Amino acid sequence: MKSVLIIDDEIEICESIKMILEYENYHVQFVNNPFDAQEKLLFSDFSLILLDIQMPEMNGFQFLDWLAQKQIHTPVLMISAYSSLENAIQATKLGAFDFLEKPIDRNKLLISVRNGINQNNLLKENIQLKTNSNNEITMIGESSAMKNIMGIISRVAPTDVRVLITGENGTGKELVAKSIYQKSKRNDKPFVEVNCAAIPKELIESELFGHKKGSFTSAISDHIGKFEQADGGTLFLDEIGDMSLDAQSKVLRALEESKIQRVGDTENIQIDVRVIAATNKNLADEIKNGNFREDLFHRLNVIPIYVPPLRERKDDIPLLINYFNKVLSKKNGLQEKIFHQNAIEVIKNLKLTGNVRQLRNLIERILIMVSEQKVTVDLIQNLLPIEEFEIHNLYDVSNTFAEFKEKTEKIFIEKQLILNNWNISKTAEAMDIQRSHLYNKLKKYGLDKKVDNNG
Ligand SMILES: Nc1ncnc2c1ncn2[C@@H]1O[C@H](COP(=O)(O)OP(=O)(O)OP(=O)(O)O)[C@@H](O)[C@H]1O
Ligand SMILES: [Mg+2]
Repeated sequence: MKSVLIIDDEIEICESIKMILEYENYHVQFVNNPFDAQEKLLFSDFSLILLDIQMPEMNGFQFLDWLAQKQIHTPVLMISAYSSLENAIQATKLGAFDFLEKPIDRNKLLISVRNGINQNNLLKENIQLKTNSNNEITMIGESSAMKNIMGIISRVAPTDVRVLITGENGTGKELVAKSIYQKSKRNDKPFVEVNCAAIPKELIESELFGHKKGSFTSAISDHIGKFEQADGGTLFLDEIGDMSLDAQSKVLRALEESKIQRVGDTENIQIDVRVIAATNKNLADEIKNGNFREDLFHRLNVIPIYVPPLRERKDDIPLLINYFNKVLSKKNGLQEKIFHQNAIEVIKNLKLTGNVRQLRNLIERILIMVSEQKVTVDLIQNLLPIEEFEIHNLYDVSNTFAEFKEKTEKIFIEKQLILNNWNISKTAEAMDIQRSHLYNKLKKYGLDKKVDNNG
């Protein structure tokens, strides 16, 4: 519920404003002296403050000063019977967003209150975004692929060039975008994120560019779009490959002209936004199939960053396990675990099609589900994702029963080898067969070479 605090020494004024606003479903409190107001503001959060100028104990300007000192960012609407231009100027200088003359006009009051609250929401969103992104971004990885990416990040971050980040699900594309932002000179300005895949086609334009009240049925008030919210800062267009062609052409225009128009409005608004885009789609294919505009692709793809899947940078896996072990145990209030080398090996050899995200989830699951402090393979076997071992689809690719049996057997043996850290004797024991028998099978399936490579 939107809450308003009225600070005015005249009770009748407070009561009449309270009535108007309550009729419009605002939650209203009033106080007749600024000290009571200070107490309230220190202990609760309001959407808006209505502030009188002339009060015996402390005038409205002094009160604005106090708000600034306490870093209370609630929007303030000044109300005064002494409406001089000077007062109005002074009030805005000190941070009030609007000024109303007494006696208060109902309509003017309602419009002003609504604007103030909208502005407050926007401000809160920005503060939230800033705090989120001020958390130091940690990017783990010492593989040559990750080192290369980190190098590109430090080179492009201080500039305003556009970056297009590609890679499979969960590889860390968003992390790369945030890391560029954090190292950029725009890092004290907003980082605004749009997930283009999550917004319905009909709403994406208004989400990106904003709209004017009444421009379509559900547009009940003016709306400021993401491009405007990101003004001066960075706009992260995530899942750009899922954006409709219509929206693509509008984005292209915005990038070419550094100007936007709110939906239902003809006014051009100048914007200064650095765009970083990401997608897990292959945009070259999307262009070929007519789903993505080639001109937009070239605009976005000034610096391409490809984040390779985890299976192509396995050296990073032990580092990531160690990192997630630390941060996720802390997050969940658990003790850090010690991962046995054989457990690390097994995890390293999983397919992890969901990449770093899947690894993170797996480590979190292990931290929560395993009660022992030392994590060994036996303790995590039933937590490992079974589909990692490619059992499915075998039926489709086998022509005969014999072929199917062989393929299944090979996979089973390989899984056992992984679980037993590629040790043949242990694997034979686990499978309850003779070592020599197992050895023959390894040769048959070419697994003996893999044992050598992993041994
Ligand atoms: N190199 C890394 N170091 C530490 N954490 C990482 C790393 N890469 C990814 N992560 C973590 O893995 C998770 C997935 O990363 P992120 O959301 O950036 O991936 P994405 O490529 O944007 O995925 P999607 O395509 O599904 O949107 C996040 O929790 C992120 O913090
Ligand atoms: Mg992402």
